Amino acid sequence: MDLGIQGRNAVVCASSRGLGRACATELAKAGCTVVINGRDKQALEETAHAIASESGARIIPVVADVSTPEGQRKIVSAVRQVDILVNNNGGPPYRDFRKIDRQAQLAGLVNNMVSPIELVQAVIDGMVERRFGRIVNITSGSVKMPLAGLDLSSGARLGLTGFLAGVARSVASANVTINFLLPGSFDTRRLNDGLAAAAKDKGVGIDLIRAEEEAAIPAKRIGQPEEFGKACAFLCSAHAGYITGQNLLIDGGAFPGVL
Ligand SMILES: NC(=O)c1ccc[n+]([C@@H]2O[C@H](COP(=O)([O-])OP(=O)(O)OC[C@H]3O[C@@H](n4cnc5c(N)ncnc54)[C@H](OP(=O)(O)O)[C@@H]3O)[C@@H](O)[C@H]2O)c1
Repeated sequence: MDLGIQGRNAVVCASSRGLGRACATELAKAGCTVVINGRDKQALEETAHAIASESGARIIPVVADVSTPEGQRKIVSAVRQVDILVNNNGGPPYRDFRKIDRQAQLAGLVNNMVSPIELVQAVIDGMVERRFGRIVNITSGSVKMPLAGLDLSSGARLGLTGFLAGVARSVASANVTINFLLPGSFDTRRLNDGLAAAAKDKGVGIDLIRAEEEAAIPAKRIGQPEEFGKACAFLCSAHAGYITGQNLLIDGGAFPGVL
């Protein structure tokens, strides 16, 4: 399908690997110029080279911490105008909520709620003026199905979801959409680090932990980042202008509810 976004400028935050990288790759394949971002310069440049070779698109790597105002300025000013914004960032580590002190709580909120809101503030008026904008926020299945131990992640992302729900309705008439993608379990470094930590805790092999994880998902497998990237690219497409304010779970059926 031609996504109708050839020549658009896309900014994908936190995208040197994992889900962000997959979104950047699919937007590049759709013909966008893509700004990618991460803190590790070498990893980011390797990813930029790989996506450019695969897609033929122009990829602009911006080394920056997306959680800081300076980092955000660098990211959004890498292109003349931002038509598509994919908000993403690292997630907080798995922790007993009793151990999350005030400073850690505030850092979690800055990373997964305040920073994406600041980026929306930076780009949305230009999108409204130009009558085209697509904003996708990568959150988590934990927004609908909170897990003990990921409390800060669930809380900050729910805050983001609530904050932007009203904003989405306020710009819909200008063909600017704001949606949320909620990953379940995807085969990325973050997931694999979590499986390795669980295996170490239990004193068993990682293959056993992975098999248990897969068995608990109705699809009986862990998702591939490409599947996530393609859904993101569709929400950013010209065809998705009537989809806004939505939370799309991509989790192989793991969430057991109907709404
Ligand atoms: N994978 C899953 O199954 C899953 C499930 C639910 C939710 N999520 C959420 O989805 C998001 C992406 O997860 P992932 O699995 O793709 O993680 P990942 O494989 O660990 O990749 C994280 C990416 O973010 C970049 N990054 C991290 N902190 C950054 C910062 N402050 N500034 C700029 N870039 C930063 C990393 O590069 P550098 O380290 O070089 O900066 C890397 O490119 C996370 O918020 C995660 O919690 C993932």
